[in-house]
Amino acid sequence: MFVTIEGIEGSGKSTLLAGLAERLRAADRDVVVTREPGGTPAGDAVRRIFLDPAIAIAPLTEAMLVNAARAQHVADVIRPALRAGKIVLCDRFVDSTLAYQGYGRGLDRDLLRRLCDAATGGLRADLTLLVDVPLAVSRARTQARHGEADRLEAEDDGFHERVRRGFLEIAHDNAGYEVLNGTLEREALIQAAYEAIGRRLGAETRA
Ligand SMILES: Nc1ncnc2c1ncn2[C@@H]1O[C@H](COP(=O)(O)OP(=O)(O)OP(=O)(O)O)[C@@H](O)[C@H]1O
Ligand SMILES: [Mg+2]
Repeated sequence: MFVTIEGIEGSGKSTLLAGLAERLRAADRDVVVTREPGGTPAGDAVRRIFLDPAIAIAPLTEAMLVNAARAQHVADVIRPALRAGKIVLCDRFVDSTLAYQGYGRGLDRDLLRRLCDAATGGLRADLTLLVDVPLAVSRARTQARHGEADRLEAEDDGFHERVRRGFLEIAHDNAGYEVLNGTLEREALIQAAYEAIGRRLGAETRA
């Protein structure tokens, strides 16, 4: 089963993913945890370029970089793990490209879907957990972190509001998505996500 976790910076994706992996492993599930951009040596090299605030990148270049990393990631990590029957938990995937490069940067969303389809070979998540928080919460959490803002964190509020709305629009009325309230306390959020995965696994078993 392929589960992707989406949301704006500081929404709590990585925290949720770690908690979920722990819960699933405690229930004897075989779990692979990975992230985008990244997940492979080539993908991690792309990630460094992608997030470096000192490197200016045009929107289309951004879209192609993440999809270059994604093609390698799907082929080398995600598909082999799914073939082996594992649960793959992926921190960001195609919806981040649609939200950031589409809704955020204004690139054509049909073009982005074609690029993403080329990179994934049509692989879709079985379930996408969208962790939603207001921008003020995102800002407060990322500012509390140490170090310099990365290239996307450094974008203005308008950009991040468009990205947040984009994620919500993608998830709206779509059966493959679960929108989670990221302002919930950590354990409550993990529990809600765990239950969503359980419902999906149950549906797969019954099918
Ligand atoms: N449910 C929660 N309640 C309160 N604080 C949280 C919660 N989840 C995460 N945090 C805190 O918010 C900060 C950001 O969390 P995290 O790194 O998981 O977000 P993220 O979505 O992975 O961010 P990024 O997109 O930048 O990778 C961390 O300091 C984390 O401890
Ligand atoms: Mg993270």
